[in-house]
Amino acid sequence: MSTTVVKSDGAPRRGSISLSGKRRGSGTEKMDTHIASWHTRTHLHEDNPHAREEDLKKLLERYTKTFTITPQRLKMITDNFVGVLEKGLEEPEQTVPMLPAYVFGWPTGEEVGSYLALDLGGTNLRVCHVVLKGKGKFEVTQSKFRLTEEQKQQEGQLLFDFCAECLNTFIIDHFGDANGDVILEEEIALGFTFSYPMQQDAIDHGKLIRWTKGFGNPNTEGRDCAAMFRQSLEKFKVPIKMTSLINDTTGTLIASNYVRQDTRIACIFGTGCNAAYMEHIGNIPKIKSLGLPDDEDMAINCEYGAFDSFTHEHMAEVRTKYDEYIDLHSNKPHEQTYEKMIAGLYLGEIFRLVMCEMVDEGSLFLGQNTYKIEKPYSFDTAFLSLIESDPTEELLTVTGLFTHFFGLDTTIVERKFFRELAKLIGTRAARLSSCGIAALVIKMGYLEEGCGVGADGSLYSKYPGFADRLHQALVDIFGEKGKKIVTYQAEDGSGVGSAIIAAMTKARKEAGKYAHV
Ligand code: GLC
Repeated sequence: MSTTVVKSDGAPRRGSISLSGKRRGSGTEKMDTHIASWHTRTHLHEDNPHAREEDLKKLLERYTKTFTITPQRLKMITDNFVGVLEKGLEEPEQTVPMLPAYVFGWPTGEEVGSYLALDLGGTNLRVCHVVLKGKGKFEVTQSKFRLTEEQKQQEGQLLFDFCAECLNTFIIDHFGDANGDVILEEEIALGFTFSYPMQQDAIDHGKLIRWTKGFGNPNTEGRDCAAMFRQSLEKFKVPIKMTSLINDTTGTLIASNYVRQDTRIACIFGTGCNAAYMEHIGNIPKIKSLGLPDDEDMAINCEYGAFDSFTHEHMAEVRTKYDEYIDLHSNKPHEQTYEKMIAGLYLGEIFRLVMCEMVDEGSLFLGQNTYKIEKPYSFDTAFLSLIESDPTEELLTVTGLFTHFFGLDTTIVERKFFRELAKLIGTRAARLSSCGIAALVIKMGYLEEGCGVGADGSLYSKYPGFADRLHQALVDIFGEKGKKIVTYQAEDGSGVGSAIIAAMTKARKEAGKYAHV
């Protein structure tokens, strides 16, 4: 089987930003189109004055204060978080909307069959063919398509057209004959993982509440994305029926439980941040009118990346001017406050803003041309991972990173400073991440018995020490008992989870159980 992989080098960038006007060290703004070569050295450059060790020490003290979150503060944030989650279950249209997902209860682990999953996340579009084999086993074949910045901003229907086109290509490649004709012996159900806040009143409908993660496609918010996607399927004559529309966290919850039954919560720490869990229907007052049985369970997509949005009251003491800057310059000011302090889309940008501030203050890269680092979002969060995990004593990976991507010379003292700064920003993200999990644990009373938390996303799986720091923060909040809340690398929720949910939905509908939702 061949898979088609379409790649794009991503986005045109928005203009340069500055925390405080014109920056020292800037030169001409001519863009290089070739990849720069570089050399490494251990001695100071004679021409350019580099940051002094004593100054960096002082700055580090300042940033340590800025980015450190005490155990007491974690507890306070967590306590407030619990109230916010409860409010979201009581009333519709809350900031943290606690969205009913119409996935009823846990999988049996015996779900079997062949399914397709389409995963529109924050960075990529994936098409997966999942074969569930029962007993927690499965096989996946997939293709990934990188989304361009343009695709994230174009007319909404065009985005769904792209989804349908990619799906069609995948189906022809995998199920087509030599002429490209597709003959399916039986209809394959498709689960669509659409990882944005959706108001659902059934498993195969979903009104987009608002875009997150930098998406801004017009004429989509407030509309049923399932209907928009079906329109695109028709346009490209894709011979597939979409049976379920889910969030990545819901998929992760179900996929993780499929293989590990003590899973109670699932989180994504990737481009965005969010969690899902299983709630007793009786505890969701806002859907009482549906007349569903109180003693059964339904998955809730918390959308808690929106925690503290608009009012910024719960994290006021730990929110920095960098967080505020990112927020105000985003396409969605005042929204996704918690997410903007934690998620992979933003950590590199926080680091970059601190560097720009130091350049402005004249303490970094004096006499060097800093135009590349002044470009918004030019410092990827993956760079923080690289900086933290550089195994060489001289931090040569960091040297290479700065010369290669930004044309900047660094000294070992500066590189060590960068490593500490990355640690501060990465640790703050991990510690804040624990508050949402802890709030769910308190709300559901999972502390005494403990529980598994399936976690996924690039930050969780690739950022060095992220899980350990998160676990430490859970101990800071709960004491020794916090050790009973164990996060682990989840299964692929958006692919496998989506397939399992498609299987669960099929079985439920065939049994005539809540067939209307
Ligand atoms: C954003 C989205 C949410 C998703 C999360 C992780 O927070 O709003 O739906 O689950 O990112 O991808």
